[in-house]
Amino acid sequence: MTAPIDVARPLPGAAFGATVRLSRPLNEAMPDGLPQALASAGGLLLLPGLDEITKDLRLLVTMSYLLGPEVEDYRTLLTRVSMAHETVPEIFMVTNMVPGSRPPPLRPEPPLTADGKLPVQYPHRKGWHTDQSYRRPPPDISLFYAVSPVAKERGQTIFASGTLAYEALPPDLEAKVENLQGLHCQPGTGRGRTEAEAGKTPPTILPHQRSQPQPVVRTHPITGRNALYLCERSQMDWFDGPFVGLEPGPYGEGARLLDALMTHYTSPEFIYVHEWTQGDVLVWDNRCLVHTATWYDAETEQRMMWRTTVRGNPGALYAGEKRSWIPEEVAAE
Ligand SMILES: [Fe+2]
Repeated sequence: MTAPIDVARPLPGAAFGATVRLSRPLNEAMPDGLPQALASAGGLLLLPGLDEITKDLRLLVTMSYLLGPEVEDYRTLLTRVSMAHETVPEIFMVTNMVPGSRPPPLRPEPPLTADGKLPVQYPHRKGWHTDQSYRRPPPDISLFYAVSPVAKERGQTIFASGTLAYEALPPDLEAKVENLQGLHCQPGTGRGRTEAEAGKTPPTILPHQRSQPQPVVRTHPITGRNALYLCERSQMDWFDGPFVGLEPGPYGEGARLLDALMTHYTSPEFIYVHEWTQGDVLVWDNRCLVHTATWYDAETEQRMMWRTTVRGNPGALYAGEKRSWIPEEVAAE
C-alpha cells in the first residue's frame, strides 16, 4: 500500500533538493512517487520525522527498494562485518560507537572561513566523494537515517550538485573533461593522495581491489542530464591517476586539473549543508552529487546513522559488466 507525498523544492538555502512530507506514517503506507521526486529535485530528498524506523528497521530497507531493484547486503559485499547491522544486513552503521567505531573526519584548518562560516569549498573542506565510486558498476542511491545525530553545527553532511557544477563549468574546464576518465581507488588500498605525497610504494593489491576508471562527465540514466562524477583525496588513485592519460601523481597535470575541478564543483552556489535531526532520512543520488561529512567531538558525543545502498541502474555505459569488486572465485560460486 502506498500514500501520496507532498514535495517542496528546493531545500532551504540551496539551489537543488526537496523536502518530502508523507501523508501517512511509514509503518502504515510506503510513500508514492519517490523516484520521480528525487529526479526532479536534482538528486537529494529530505524526509523528516521518520522515527518509526528505529523500532522497525525493515522500513528503511522496504523504502530503499522503492528506489531501485537491488539493496546491498553488506555481509556479502566484502565490507567489514562489524559495520553491518547484525539483524538487518542491508543496513550499514556509520558510527563512532562500538562495533563500527569509525572516527569522525578532522576539523578543517582553520575551522571557520575568514567571514566566520562553515567551510564548504575544496580544498579548505575535504573528504568529498560519491559512495563506492571505486566499484564498477557503481551504486545509484544512498539512504541515510539519523538514529542519534550529534548536536547542531557539527556532524553535518554537505552535498554538492554535480549537475549544477557541470552546467556552470568555465569553457576551458569543460573542454578538458569531455571524454576524460577519472581513476577511483578504494580507500585503504594505499593509493590515496596522502600516501602518494609521502612517497610511499603502494602495496600489492588483489584484482578485485584495483582502481576503476569512471567518466568524469556522467550522463544520468533517468534525467539524461550530465553531471561531474569525481572524488578527491582518498578515493582517487594518486599513483596511476587521478585521470587516465594525464600526467599522474600528486604534483602533475592531473592533480592540478582535479584541484581546479573540485574547487569549482564545491562552490557555495552548488552546496547544501544538512543539519541532522533525529528521525531524518536523506536520500541522495550518487550518480550526480558528491558529499562529505563534518567533524564532531567523538570524545564526548556519540553518533549513530544507518545507511542503505541501492543499485541496479548505473546507465548504459555499464551494461553487462561483471562486478569489479567481487573476486572471481566468489563470483563463480
Ligand atoms: Fe559517503
